Amino acid sequence: MSKLADKTILLIISGGIAAYKSLELIRLLKTAGVRVRVIMTRAAKEFVSPLTVASLTGEKVHDELFNLTDEIEMGHIELSRAADLLVVAPATADLMAKMAHGHADDLASTTLLATDKQVLIAPAMNVRMWTHAATARNLAKLKRDGALVIGPNEGEMACGEFGPGRMAEPAEIVVAIETALTSKTGALVGKKVLITAGPTREAIDPVRYISNHSSGKQGYAIAEAAARLGADVALVSGPVEVPAPAGVRMVAVQSAVDMLAACERELPCDIAIFAAAVADWRVADEATQKIKKDGKGVPALKFVENPDILKTIAKRGSQRPGLVVGFAAETENLIENARDKLSKKGCDLIVANDVSKDKNVFGGDQNSVHLVTASGVDNWGPLSKHDVAQRLMGRLASLVKGQP
Ligand code: PMT
Repeated sequence: MSKLADKTILLIISGGIAAYKSLELIRLLKTAGVRVRVIMTRAAKEFVSPLTVASLTGEKVHDELFNLTDEIEMGHIELSRAADLLVVAPATADLMAKMAHGHADDLASTTLLATDKQVLIAPAMNVRMWTHAATARNLAKLKRDGALVIGPNEGEMACGEFGPGRMAEPAEIVVAIETALTSKTGALVGKKVLITAGPTREAIDPVRYISNHSSGKQGYAIAEAAARLGADVALVSGPVEVPAPAGVRMVAVQSAVDMLAACERELPCDIAIFAAAVADWRVADEATQKIKKDGKGVPALKFVENPDILKTIAKRGSQRPGLVVGFAAETENLIENARDKLSKKGCDLIVANDVSKDKNVFGGDQNSVHLVTASGVDNWGPLSKHDVAQRLMGRLASLVKGQP
């Protein structure tokens, strides 16, 4: 039996010459036992006929956002809810731009904005459009938002030019779909893992904020390692430049207050790991207008304490995650301060790291960590942040194994 049998794919066809290859993609998927439902953009219908698509899929083709019958029967939310994966093939430069900016002005873009499912895109466009800085920016955004990307391939294009921009071959897209849908084989299959990462930004006024040097690298590496073990991963992240790891659901936040609210929405979960560098304080009265330099001296900022996200979640009673892991970023008395955080914040394990300036942990690629639990301390490192992540997730997977 095919690995894809009984899966449902929502295929979104946008308007490029490569749309004809989507017909072969549908045929391959149908042969593999997949239910294929299709949304076509208005431009896609200029390249392939909805009748052909309907004949190949054996299903009605969806193309209108404001279709009364569709909205009564199921609605565009239902289209994504019933799918195991959304595949955009071909993904034109225009649709990628809409996705990157959260536009929702037709059925395709609205469904992509409303979905909580993994999205795989197969870009296809003229080589100059593909190499344009705007497309590169949009692609980076989409990856950061968690989209999986296959292709484009390099070769002769329909417009006569040569270079990258050809849509990946249908057989290659099928392999990418199989990987996206069947990689869940690790020790954390069926477990939900919540991870915080990156810095928070605490606004002073509409243009200024207080933050720190966290790059998100350590937290993102942990999210990637958790996803590789098959976990359902929610990565609640402050603003960073690191791309989103594949197979991870991103939740982007700015402030500590936002981060706490986002974490609370992810409960219940089996493991919660707090790798974010959360600002301990925020400005008491965020100015609604830019503070002016008026010659009367510097402004005096008053601070209030931010909520402690880790402590709040660790003391959440019946909603407490099965395993709560905190970090301790210290510049002195590393182990002593980590032990103190372990008990005061109510976590099961603290990953202590020395963040003195010369250690280059904030933003760097290496980390030396100390795993502090009630029963002792394990010293790891120096290791790459990816190795720290893999070893940490391996340890946590063995700890949750016995938990219901
Ligand atoms: O992002 P990188 O550049 O890769 O750097 C990685 C890192 C140094 C940021 C990471 O390894 C790390 O140490 N993260 C925790 C940073 C921190 O804020 O530590 P802390 O000792 O101040 O806080 C202790 C714990 O409480 C942390 O788990 C923190 O996420 C959590 N906390 C702190 C304050 C707060 N208001 N809410 C929290 O949840």
